[in-house]
Amino acid sequence: MKPYKIADNVYFLQINHFNRRLFDSLIPLPEGTSYNAYLVKGSERTALLDTADPEKREVLFDFLKDVKKLDYVVSHHAEQDHSGSIPFVLEKYPMAKVVTNPKCKEFLMSHLHIPAEKFIEVKDYGTLDLGGKTLQFIYTPWVHWPETMSTYLKEDRILFSCDFFGSHLATSSAFSEETVVHDPMKRYYAEIMMPFATSVKSNLEKIKDLDLGMIAPSHGPVHKNVKFVTGLYRDWAAGETKNKALIAYVSMHGSTAIMVNRLVSRLQEAGVGVEKINMEQFDEGRVAMALVDAATVVIGTPTVLAGPHPKAVYGAYLANALRPKAKFVSVIGSYGWGGKTVEIIAGMIPNLKAEVLKPVIVKGKPTETDLALVDELAALIAGKHSELFNRTEAKSLTGNG
Ligand code: FEO
Repeated sequence: MKPYKIADNVYFLQINHFNRRLFDSLIPLPEGTSYNAYLVKGSERTALLDTADPEKREVLFDFLKDVKKLDYVVSHHAEQDHSGSIPFVLEKYPMAKVVTNPKCKEFLMSHLHIPAEKFIEVKDYGTLDLGGKTLQFIYTPWVHWPETMSTYLKEDRILFSCDFFGSHLATSSAFSEETVVHDPMKRYYAEIMMPFATSVKSNLEKIKDLDLGMIAPSHGPVHKNVKFVTGLYRDWAAGETKNKALIAYVSMHGSTAIMVNRLVSRLQEAGVGVEKINMEQFDEGRVAMALVDAATVVIGTPTVLAGPHPKAVYGAYLANALRPKAKFVSVIGSYGWGGKTVEIIAGMIPNLKAEVLKPVIVKGKPTETDLALVDELAALIAGKHSELFNRTEAKSLTGNG
């Protein structure tokens, strides 16, 4: 394989993993992923920026087969999908030094047992001259680990951003197309970045004055349309919600499903967009994406052993961990003879700073009287949305937003 030239003496080593279906033993990868490394050749020295998941290191070494001398391996992030092949690279190039910040060095020493003498530590905004190619290191912490950083290649106006602006998208295209990359980027943001929205915002601020011709992340294609991708991140991190409700549910004998279907119908009739996800078997990424901008989250669950169904517990735990910006939350479902479903779910979602709308929990198969309560909940959600979005619209019209 030949590396793809993205600028003079700057090469993209696009290590696709088309068949990978799960990341961190958790996150579904419907479109695979890629581990991106980059090679920057100065007139005097050569640097490799990041490596690859060790499972794909043979592809990395195929890309490097004509590289006789490597001076530096820049490590932006210690997570093993980018750093895991560093020890193998150091075996092949024993004179190379690992260039990173002190926190990342600490992580690489503990995760990969790379000895201290192999490192060169860099400061925030520190530079490294390769000979006509100047790497400037910019700390971009918490996107999504505490040690994450980016590199700005001044002469070519490229920001190597690691996970920041990434997408789990295996593709033979080197550069992103807006319509293709939007959903994989949103999914990636939702799963990886959303809990750190405050850090995303401060890091966007930190890079906003850089003259950028390209953003080269460590997953998915390279972005030439810098305004498009930074705009997406700005919108998502702002936490503005849309007139949309996420209804994530599980049903054992159909009673909760009847209530969910009624709620979906009534919400749709009232003009509220609905994302309905059955958690019996579900794609966590779909839930995460819906949580980026859903104004309301409703969890539907039957009662099992006096509490919520374990799959609803999983969904609630996931939603809480992702720290979405939903404004309203509720629970619906049925029970056989009693339980503490609502109390348990409510106790599991402290990170959702949302108003709790009166839950609807009914005994057995819902009656028309029970379903009238679901109708009331739908009307309440629609009213809350109407109030929220009219207010937002009015604010933007008067310029006070
Ligand atoms: Fe792609 Fe956080 O590693």
